[in-house]
Amino acid sequence: MANICVIGMGKMGLPVAALFAACGSTVVGADINAEVVAAINAGTCPIDNEPGLAEMISETVTTGRLRATTDTPEAVRASDVVVVLVPLLVDPRNQYEPTYRALESAMDGIGRGIRPGTLVILETTLPVGDTRNRLGPIIEQVSGLRAGEDFLLVFSPERVQSNQVIRNLLEYPKVVGGVNQRSTDAAVAFYQEALTTNIIAVANAETAEFAKIAECVYRDVNIALANEMAISAASVGVDFNDVIMAANSEPLSHIHKPGLGVGGHCIPVYPYFMINRQEPTVLAQQARKINDGMADYATDLLRGELGSLDGQNVLVLGLSYRANVKEPTFSSAILLVQSLQRAGAQVYLLDPLFTAEEIARYTPGALAVNPDLSGLPKFAAAIVQAWHNDFRSLSWRDLPGTPIVLDGRNAVNRAEVEAAGLRYVAIGVAERNVAASV
Ligand SMILES: NC(=O)c1ccc[n+]([C@@H]2O[C@H](COP(=O)([O-])OP(=O)(O)OC[C@H]3O[C@@H](n4cnc5c(N)ncnc54)[C@H](O)[C@@H]3O)[C@@H](O)[C@H]2O)c1
Repeated sequence: MANICVIGMGKMGLPVAALFAACGSTVVGADINAEVVAAINAGTCPIDNEPGLAEMISETVTTGRLRATTDTPEAVRASDVVVVLVPLLVDPRNQYEPTYRALESAMDGIGRGIRPGTLVILETTLPVGDTRNRLGPIIEQVSGLRAGEDFLLVFSPERVQSNQVIRNLLEYPKVVGGVNQRSTDAAVAFYQEALTTNIIAVANAETAEFAKIAECVYRDVNIALANEMAISAASVGVDFNDVIMAANSEPLSHIHKPGLGVGGHCIPVYPYFMINRQEPTVLAQQARKINDGMADYATDLLRGELGSLDGQNVLVLGLSYRANVKEPTFSSAILLVQSLQRAGAQVYLLDPLFTAEEIARYTPGALAVNPDLSGLPKFAAAIVQAWHNDFRSLSWRDLPGTPIVLDGRNAVNRAEVEAAGLRYVAIGVAERNVAASV
């Protein structure tokens, strides 16, 4: 089995490293965060809500298969294979253009430690061409070695989702594409030995890079389509949930669920790698507008119910972009809070996964609600943004005022809401009952 270095011990890199170690490889994780490194070396898991990960870290650290370090060149020097999962951050104030600082510093660290024959695999999502033209050349410049000749260079996207990473890693095929055939062949041989997943070798690094972006554009466009049809269904008095159930009984129809918008690192972000660098992108751009516009649609729905939101207290349930994951990055909660604030509402936020300080930081102006629901004001409405398991024990009667629940994820039991005497409103649920008007 190969000696592996995984650079970036975050939500993706750490489970990847632990799984390699659990499958029998010797793994060293490199990270600039000394606290994360210390936690791993103590056999503890610095990440919440990742089933199976804590046990895997404890076991593989104890057996000596996994360790961590802040010294990237040392870790690279000790390894035959280097896997990179350092984030490529993007700047929404600059058209979501990437800011390469973290990745470039990781490339520099690789360049200083790399030996001839090392296989370098970039798993961080990248714009098409970056493996070959932007990041590989940094390693070449620092090391004096040639990509594809002296060392092997591959892109292989990480396609998994937070809080199901280990399951996804074992189930999803691994897509690999190198800067040349030798690199691709080396990566196929590596993943075949190190993991038990199927492997899809594609023509080159650029194909593999675009495959990940295409997955995100596909999801974004299809969610936008569902959102547009849901709004359209509601406008003619039709419940879109029934439409999905009926239409998807045809095997070629895969209509997605509508909702308050999309969030997280991937779906709202990586389409911009295509929009900013490739053509044509008409649909991809429109999907971004539609999905980010769902926050204003929700505000308009409430305005339609309440007349005005000016000076009204509105409770948002869930800051995370997705249920049961502590991830605020590009969460649609942020757009929702801003939209409600523009309408004059005082927004309250309840999310037991976040501290009051974190809520204040990620959604400025929103007031954090105590998870024990003490000291609540009267709410004009509650909006379900991310339906965490913790919310299932919530009694709607515990929310003072609150005549309306807007279910932004079609996740809540409508009968329970109505049994508590509240009005249930949802994305794609009829504004009026079409049968009553026929
Ligand atoms: N989070 C997801 O749901 C998800 C899903 C699929 C793919 N991905 C891909 O994984 C990448 C990483 O995401 P994540 O969620 O693990 O990020 P994260 O923020 O959880 O972790 C990143 C880690 O990298 C470390 N780091 C930063 N710069 C470094 C450097 N120069 N050298 C060493 N370590 C460094 C940080 O300290 C941090 O521990 C993303 O950019 C994306 O391309 C993420």
